[in-house]
Amino acid sequence: MKHEVYGDLTNVKGYLVKELEAIYEEIVPREQLTTPELDEKLLDLTDALGREIAVYLSRQGRVLAVSVGDNATVDLPEVKSRKTLRLSGVRCLHTHPSGDTELSGPDLSSLRRLRFDVMAALGRDDDGSVCGTIGFFSGTKRSDGTPELSVVGSLHEAQLLKIHVGALTASINKHLAAGERTNATGKVRETAILAGLETGCRTTAAEDSLAELRRLVDTAGADVVGTCLQRKEKPDAAFFLGRGKVHEIAMAAQETDATMLVLDDEITPSQQRNLESELGLKVLDRTALILDIFAQRARTREGKLQVELAQLRYLLPRLGGLGFVLSRLGGGIGARGPGESKLELDRRRIRTRIHIVEEQIRDVQKNRTLHQRRRRNSTLPLVALVGYTNAGKSTLLNRLTGAEAFAEDKLFATLDPLTRHLTLTDGQECLLTDTVGFIQKLPHTLVPAFQATLEEVQEADLLLHVVDGTSPQAEQQISAVIDVLRDIGTETKPTLYVFNKVDQIEEAGSGAGDHAFAALLRDRESVLVSALSGQGIEALLEKIAAFFRRQRRTMELLLPFSAGALLSRLHTLHAVQKEEYTGEGIRVTARVDDELAKQCEPFACQPEQNP
Ligand code: GTP
Repeated sequence: MKHEVYGDLTNVKGYLVKELEAIYEEIVPREQLTTPELDEKLLDLTDALGREIAVYLSRQGRVLAVSVGDNATVDLPEVKSRKTLRLSGVRCLHTHPSGDTELSGPDLSSLRRLRFDVMAALGRDDDGSVCGTIGFFSGTKRSDGTPELSVVGSLHEAQLLKIHVGALTASINKHLAAGERTNATGKVRETAILAGLETGCRTTAAEDSLAELRRLVDTAGADVVGTCLQRKEKPDAAFFLGRGKVHEIAMAAQETDATMLVLDDEITPSQQRNLESELGLKVLDRTALILDIFAQRARTREGKLQVELAQLRYLLPRLGGLGFVLSRLGGGIGARGPGESKLELDRRRIRTRIHIVEEQIRDVQKNRTLHQRRRRNSTLPLVALVGYTNAGKSTLLNRLTGAEAFAEDKLFATLDPLTRHLTLTDGQECLLTDTVGFIQKLPHTLVPAFQATLEEVQEADLLLHVVDGTSPQAEQQISAVIDVLRDIGTETKPTLYVFNKVDQIEEAGSGAGDHAFAALLRDRESVLVSALSGQGIEALLEKIAAFFRRQRRTMELLLPFSAGALLSRLHTLHAVQKEEYTGEGIRVTARVDDELAKQCEPFACQPEQNP
C-alpha cells in the first residue's frame, strides 16, 4: 500500500520520497516515544532535504502521517484541531533543518492547538549523538485560562528512550481531569502514597517517621491518599521496597489516582528509576521532598543559593528518570527551584549552573562575615531560638518582638535566620534570632543549606530551646535537636528550655497534661509559655534578663569627658548603675559583660568586683 507523504515535495528527488514513504513501515513500541532507527532516519533525511520532517504516531506506536515542511500544515482527521480538554492520543516527532532541538513558538502553538500527547524536537549534539527536547501539557492553567505547557530538554537519546509515554499521558490526563483539586495558589494538588521500611527498628519509630513524612508532604502542597509500611531486613537493591509491595502500591495508585510515591528514606537513582518505570508514577524520597520545601521557603540570597546547589547536586545523577519529567505536571513537586523558577533539567546547563552558584555562595559568604562582624561590634548579646520544626519558634519570635516572621502550621516555615531587637523586663537589650527547625533524619546533603542559620547559633550567648510540650515525641525531638547542636559544637552553650503550647494543655483540662510537662521539665532550666496566647512570656523575658544580669560584673570607672561615646554606649546597653560628674571626669558604676569590660578596661579606677 502506498502511503502519502504530506507537505511540499517539489524538487524532492524520487529516491528520497521513497525513503520518506518507508517511514510508515516503522513501528515504535507503544510505551516508547521513539526508536534509535526512526531518529536516525529522520535526521539523515532532514540533512538530505534541508527541510523539517514531522512524524505523527498513534498511542499504539503506528505511524499515522509523515510530513515535510512546517508541521502546522498537516491536515489529518486524527490531528485536527480539538475542542475537548483530553489529549489527542497522537504524538509528534519532528526535526528542524537547522539541527537545533529547541521547541519554537509555532511548535508550541501546534502542540497546544492539536493537543498532542507529547511533542519532541530531535537534533544532534556536538558529538553527533541524537538528542531532543520534549513539550507536553503540564495539567495546570495559566492565569488567562489557557493550559500551561512544560518543556524539558535537551535530553540525550537514552533519556528520550526511557520516557514512558503511557505513564506520562495517563498522568497528564489525570491532572487535566483533576482541575477542581486546586490549592490556594490555584495549582492542581498532587496526590501521594507514602511508603517506609521498618528495618529492624521499632515499629513506633517507623510509624512516627511516616507521620512526620505526611506533614512534610502536606507542607509541600500534596494530599496523602495512602500509606504503607513494610517490615524488611534491608532495602531491596533494585526497588528499595519488596516486589510484592511495589505491586500493591501500583494497584493502590490506580484506585486512588495517586500522582506520586514518596519514600521515607533516601533511595538510589537506580531504585528511583526502577520504581518510576514499574509504577508509571513520579517517585520522590525524603531528601527531594525536603529540598522542594526548602526551595519554596528560602528567603535570603544565601539560603536560596544553598538550596539550589543542593537541588542541582541531587538532580544530576537522577536526570534519566521519568520522575523529573513527571515533576513538571500539576504542582510540580520535585522540580521547583527557589522562588518561582523551575529547576533546569539539562545536564550540561546544570553543571554550568553549579559552578555559578558555588561562586555566588562564596561571594555572599564573604559579605555575611562582614555583616556578622558589624553585629558583634554592637556588643548586644545574642539569643538564638532553636527547636524541632513546628515547635513554635517563629510564633515566639513574633510574640516577643512583633517581627513578621513567617509562622504557619507547616513544617519548616523558617529557613533563614531572622534577627530582631528585644527589650527585656529590666530595660536591657539583646538580639533575638530565629533558626530553621531541626528534624530527625536530616539528610547530610542539606547541612550546608543551614550554614547561615547554624552560624548564628554558634555566635549566640544564650539558646532558647523551644519545645512543643504537647507533642508525644517531645523527648525524642529534644534529643534530635541536641544531636545537631553537638554536631556543630554548641551543645554546651547556656540553654533555657521553653516548653510551648501550654494553652493546649489547659484546654484539655489540667491533670494529664501537667503530668506530661512535669516529665519533660526534669532538672532543666525551663519556663512554660504559650507563644500564641502570651501566657508565660513575662516570665520568659525575666529569665533571659536574669541570665544576662548574672553574666555581668560591676566595674568602677573614671571616664574622661572625651569618652562620651563609651558613656552613651553604656547607657544604651542599660549598664550604668551610678553616674557622677566630678572635676576629674565622670565617675561611673557599670554592670558589664566580657566584651564591654574590654572597652572599659583603660578607665577602670579600682579592681573589678564580682557580684
Ligand atoms: P519551623 O519553621 O518549621 O521550624 O516551625 P516553628 O518552630 O517556627 O513553628 P511556628 O512558629 O511556625 O509554629 C508552628 C505551628 O504551631 C503554627 O501553627 C502555630 O500557630 C502553632 N503554635 C505556635 N505556638 C503555639 C502555642 O503556644 N499554642 C498553640 N496552640 N499553637 C502554637
